[in-house]
Amino acid sequence: MKPKLINSIEEMFAIRKHLTGVIGFVPTMGFLHEGHLSLVREAKKQTDIVIVSIFVNPTQFSANEDLSEYPRNIERDIELLTDLEVDHIFFPTDEQMYPEDYKTWVDVDKITQVLCGRSRPTHFRGVTTIVTKLMNIIDPDIMFMGEKDFQQLVVLRQMAKDLNFRTKIVGCSIVREKDGLALSSRNKYLSPDGRKKALCLNKSLLLAQKLFSGNVVSSNKIISHMTDLIEDNEGIIDYIEVLEPKTLEHIPELISGCRIALAVVVENTRLIDNIKIV
Ligand code: PAJ
Repeated sequence: MKPKLINSIEEMFAIRKHLTGVIGFVPTMGFLHEGHLSLVREAKKQTDIVIVSIFVNPTQFSANEDLSEYPRNIERDIELLTDLEVDHIFFPTDEQMYPEDYKTWVDVDKITQVLCGRSRPTHFRGVTTIVTKLMNIIDPDIMFMGEKDFQQLVVLRQMAKDLNFRTKIVGCSIVREKDGLALSSRNKYLSPDGRKKALCLNKSLLLAQKLFSGNVVSSNKIISHMTDLIEDNEGIIDYIEVLEPKTLEHIPELISGCRIALAVVVENTRLIDNIKIV
């Protein structure tokens, strides 16, 4: 059966009121790929009713970013979600989510200003605000998010804890192409040559794991090897950081369980990736 496409907040409230069982929620900006679909599959496994939202959230893009070019294909998204037997798709308009007199923002301190927050200072404020709104509208029991956007996941967990959301957040592992490139809607901006160069993100993360397995622990040393690999592939590094996974604090030496996260620009497209070091 085709999922019900819900365009208005009022209608979503009305439907939600009558839903019973465990409600799973997967927030997305659409143009769905296997990464998104893996979250939906996990939601199908763990919950009784699955709701997916599709909303390209303007407030998480800054003026010089790709909002107007952000890829969209709602018909295809509906087909993919129909195949996965999703129950409801929430697809609101910009005007509904941000009416003209909109004034309220949700802001998480500190951890939104590091990593991606350094080059995108207002990005996470947009994410936390829209996810708060979506969680208030949908009131899910469990929300499913990808580890691909690791900082986003940490920020939203902090927000949910601080603001006492009852929703449990489940993080799901990164889905990659066969050659290791993490799936992302932004990969479509890459030329075939750029697509090859973009493999340097994952390759550098695997190199870090290999070095750590060979007993190299210095973050600086490992970052320096990763930098060489990325620059050999003409990637422009925004950041490479070795992190304590809960606080996102920089750590000087790798330990098992830490995360390495990076952002690299390839052919004008900013790509992110990360790895859990084991
Ligand atoms: P979007 O980029 O569409 O991603 C939606 C969800 O899919 C996020 O939780 C993201 O981490 C996950 N995802 C993307 N690529 C993935 C991959 N390769 N493997 C696993 N999961 C992947 O993230 C957003 O939208 C927005 O910021 C949103 C949370 C919807 C708020 O607007």
